[in-house]
Amino acid sequence: MATYLIEHMFKVMLMRIGVIGCGNIAHELSKKFKISAVYDICPERCNDIDAFLCEDIGSLITHSDIIIEAASPQAVKDYALRIIDSGRDLVIMSIGGLVEQDFRERLFTLAKEKGTYIYLPSGAIGGIDLIKTAKIAGLHCVTLRSTKNAKTLGYNVKEKTLIFKGKASQAIEKFPKSVNVSVLLSIVSGMDIDVEVYADPDIKENMHDIVVEGEFGKAEFKIINRASPANPRTSYLAVLSPLYLLENLEDVVKIGV
Ligand SMILES: NC(=O)c1ccc[n+]([C@@H]2O[C@H](COP(=O)([O-])OP(=O)(O)OC[C@H]3O[C@@H](n4cnc5c(N)ncnc54)[C@H](O)[C@@H]3O)[C@@H](O)[C@H]2O)c1
Repeated sequence: MATYLIEHMFKVMLMRIGVIGCGNIAHELSKKFKISAVYDICPERCNDIDAFLCEDIGSLITHSDIIIEAASPQAVKDYALRIIDSGRDLVIMSIGGLVEQDFRERLFTLAKEKGTYIYLPSGAIGGIDLIKTAKIAGLHCVTLRSTKNAKTLGYNVKEKTLIFKGKASQAIEKFPKSVNVSVLLSIVSGMDIDVEVYADPDIKENMHDIVVEGEFGKAEFKIINRASPANPRTSYLAVLSPLYLLENLEDVVKIGV
């Protein structure tokens, strides 16, 4: 047991973690983990992270064993195939970058060929384990209702207002920074899920109501997300999810998956 723990500790300690995007998530990660290398289109954003500053994505790949994308959906589209082709593992936070099925399938197929891992953390929501399990018997529908602060969404409304109703693939086009979780729910359920987005001038929290119906029965989740201490735009839970992933990467016991 002691040998396993020591080996595990060293494996995680020796792993070179590279990060794309020196924003809120990267800064929170850097408080807990030694980041080896960073890359950002605005390099000055990386100034206060103690890591090698890469000039391009190629350099980040060279200096990393695992890469955490914490930048934008476009970054996923631009760099993910190259990262996986290099044999590096990849953690994707901007799940919206995976909205196109053709691209997603190409990426996932390449990962299988290369024997690399792609991690999609649960981010600002929960219930992914239930959806995966329930899908085996068949899902009927999955609905996400997200309520966010109106100003954060760029809306000037006096009361809680429905500003979008449609499919996840349309929602992420309209709100590329705000509904990554809708694409995650689509990927895990295998359907372009139904999404409603509400702007509310009176709330600080990001709220997600998820309803899942299938052969298993029905489940409802309500997630009321506090903002992360450093940035009101990002849910604290979303920041914690890659931290959890990295801490437990090498665990031999997998719970609730
Ligand atoms: N899955 C989830 O639940 C969830 C939750 C919160 C945030 N996110 C997503 O995670 C990503 C990071 O979040 P954040 O709050 O840290 O964002 P942030 O805006 O604080 O930081 C993003 C950083 O990435 C950089 N960047 C943008 N595009 C880039 C590119 N193509 N190449 C290199 N650098 C680039 C920016 O300059 C910026 O410094 C965002 O896309 C956000 O939408 C996902």
